Amino acid sequence: MFRFLFLFYSIVIIAGCAVKAQEDSAQNKVEELLAQMTLEEKIGQMNQYSSFYDVTGPAPGAGYQKDRYEHVKNGLVGSMLNVRGAEQVRKMQEVAVENSRLGIPLIFGFDVIHGFKTTMPVPIAEAASWDMDAVEQSARIAAVEASAAGLNWTFAPMVDICRDARWGRLMEGAGEDPFLGSAVAAARVKGFQGDNLAAPNTIAACTKHFAAYGFAEAGKDYNTADIGLSTLYNVVLPPFKATVDAGVQTFMNSFNELNGIPATGDVFLQRDILKGEWGFNGFIVSDWGSITEMLYHGFASDGKHASEIAANAGSDMDMESHLYLKHLKELVDEGKVDNEHIDDAVKRILTVKHNLGLFDDPYKYCDVTREKNVTMSKEHLDASLDIAKKSIVLLKNENNMLPLSKSGKKIAVIGQLADNKNSPLGNWRLAADDNTAVSVIEGLGEYGNEISHAQGVKFFEGQEAFIHELKINNEDESGIPEAVELAKSSDVVILVLGEHGYMTGEGRSRAHIDLPGKQQKLMEEVYAANSNVVLVLMNGRPLDLDWANGNIPAIVEAWHLGTQSGHAIAQVLYGDYNPSGKLPMTFPKNGGQIPIYYNYKNTGRPGPSGLVFWSHYIDETNMPLYPFGHGLSYTTYKYSDLQVNVDSLSGVVNVSVEVANTGDMDGDEVVQLYIRDKVASVTRPVRELKGFEKVTISAGSSKTIKFKLTKDQLGFYNNQGKFVTEPGQFDVMVGWSSKDGVVSNFTLGDNFQF
Ligand code: BGC
Repeated sequence: MFRFLFLFYSIVIIAGCAVKAQEDSAQNKVEELLAQMTLEEKIGQMNQYSSFYDVTGPAPGAGYQKDRYEHVKNGLVGSMLNVRGAEQVRKMQEVAVENSRLGIPLIFGFDVIHGFKTTMPVPIAEAASWDMDAVEQSARIAAVEASAAGLNWTFAPMVDICRDARWGRLMEGAGEDPFLGSAVAAARVKGFQGDNLAAPNTIAACTKHFAAYGFAEAGKDYNTADIGLSTLYNVVLPPFKATVDAGVQTFMNSFNELNGIPATGDVFLQRDILKGEWGFNGFIVSDWGSITEMLYHGFASDGKHASEIAANAGSDMDMESHLYLKHLKELVDEGKVDNEHIDDAVKRILTVKHNLGLFDDPYKYCDVTREKNVTMSKEHLDASLDIAKKSIVLLKNENNMLPLSKSGKKIAVIGQLADNKNSPLGNWRLAADDNTAVSVIEGLGEYGNEISHAQGVKFFEGQEAFIHELKINNEDESGIPEAVELAKSSDVVILVLGEHGYMTGEGRSRAHIDLPGKQQKLMEEVYAANSNVVLVLMNGRPLDLDWANGNIPAIVEAWHLGTQSGHAIAQVLYGDYNPSGKLPMTFPKNGGQIPIYYNYKNTGRPGPSGLVFWSHYIDETNMPLYPFGHGLSYTTYKYSDLQVNVDSLSGVVNVSVEVANTGDMDGDEVVQLYIRDKVASVTRPVRELKGFEKVTISAGSSKTIKFKLTKDQLGFYNNQGKFVTEPGQFDVMVGWSSKDGVVSNFTLGDNFQF
């Protein structure tokens, strides 16, 4: 035993020494390079340009366009975004490496948000899978394809927690919960970065947007965030911290101001918390033009002032404000920005380049053969189908209307989205080729029934309309009679409704979260003609589905699922895959309930009470339409035998539950554990997710699921940002949604060893 332990510890020590030696050598190389750099060259490393000027933001002035190549040649650019393709990247890299005095390679960034050419489900959909292996695998494949296209840095994951269905960018995140959000965030970082960042098929991840961008007031993009410290520390920050723990290489700050300070100029967020308390060693890139935007926030008087604020606050790289290059030297000369801040920023940037192996081979990501071989390979398409199926959430299934029988039926497929091959790719799919998704019609066509299609209403006009300016058809309902006739002559209607893929994402906030255009009318008239309706939803945010839930017998949440969309939907509708997704965000009954989320505080007047004076609406329930964690299956599960055992000496609460598959189909169930800390020095939510496990349980069998709660789950952040643990009483629920499950409670005595 002793010999074994000795060997074990020796290996650990040797491995530890090896990592330390690697870090030291990186440090030395970076220091050596830094010592050779002029101040201009250092500032150049802090400058990032976009290649395609109009892809993600306002066009820069023509002068800068012309100057860009010259700047790259002269070592005045550290990074480019939006250059992609092995050949193009090589060309651009050559400009930097062959011409600039020190030949420092560029780092090439791109928004690889959900897949690359092989498109994966939009992130909010992937989060609905609650399957961390699948989420990691999705990011892994995205990295394999992106790195083969010359890229070595993605601006993902977006980890912004959001409680507001109006905010268009929630499609890029993991929803409303910090625990699920942290798990998803870490899985994505691991997927992108792999085990070895220097490998040619891994890329650096970038956690964004630091911080509180998802708390934009009224769900309006870029809007002010003003939140209390309790929410900041316990809800907003945990997923960011989880990515630091997972080794993320870079961070992006944010457009919004938080409590009066624009995030880009926030010392507290960037220097105190991220680089200070959390010990983050990577670099922070600004969001697109966010240094300039501090002028509009009323925080900086001019570009020079904005540069001073941003650099001093710890924003290491300027994305498309062009201000660092213009002003930082003068600011250093005037003593307004410390040389040390510049050196620190440059060291961070060079270290990431070193970690990526760019100093060993700046062209390692530029292999056209690899690009050809891996892009949209069968393996990648299969993985996309796998996670697409897992992301689908069965919201309602009255009288087991689903799955559909595979033959002998006349099926009417109604809706403009049903034969659309572009919208299912979702937004933020910059590398995908248009119209490469499998449509619902195509997916269903691979099965035996007789399928007919009618558009019903055409609610949007052309794809281009969606990229910049949404054009919703609120007038023309001339296609409804045809759809109604088709419904009448069919056995089953599959209504495919929702939002076009471009209706969510950046700048796509909505004041009305209903079905856009005349789709509601279409649904009601079709249902009146034939009530055997399956509603398949394609959307990137929670929608107001109150009428549908009250009437339509079966509802399937199919999000924007990427390349394999139609195949995944058909497999679920026909029962070749038993749905297992669970909502990562609460669906309100009514837009007026927003923000609505499961982990709310109890208030002093929780009710319900017969009197008027309790926390409620006089014209709407407090209940959501579908709670966080909701999702049905074609089989049924029974939860029983919840056991809770407090082991005070080890500081562990052991929880176990029996989950039986009581139906006749094998299934995957997401077992969710929630706690409530009954009394605390800072009030705690009525319910908080603190554990989950996705398990396969075959029909007729059962499994015991075990959880361990330790101080990490039992404590919370106080208003000074300090993580505290307090003894006392806790409720625990293990269940199939945030609303339903088996319940118990436990007490942590003063002797509990947190
Ligand atoms: C977005 C970022 C994105 C950047 C670069 C900005 O408009 O907010 O999330 O990474 O553009 O494309």
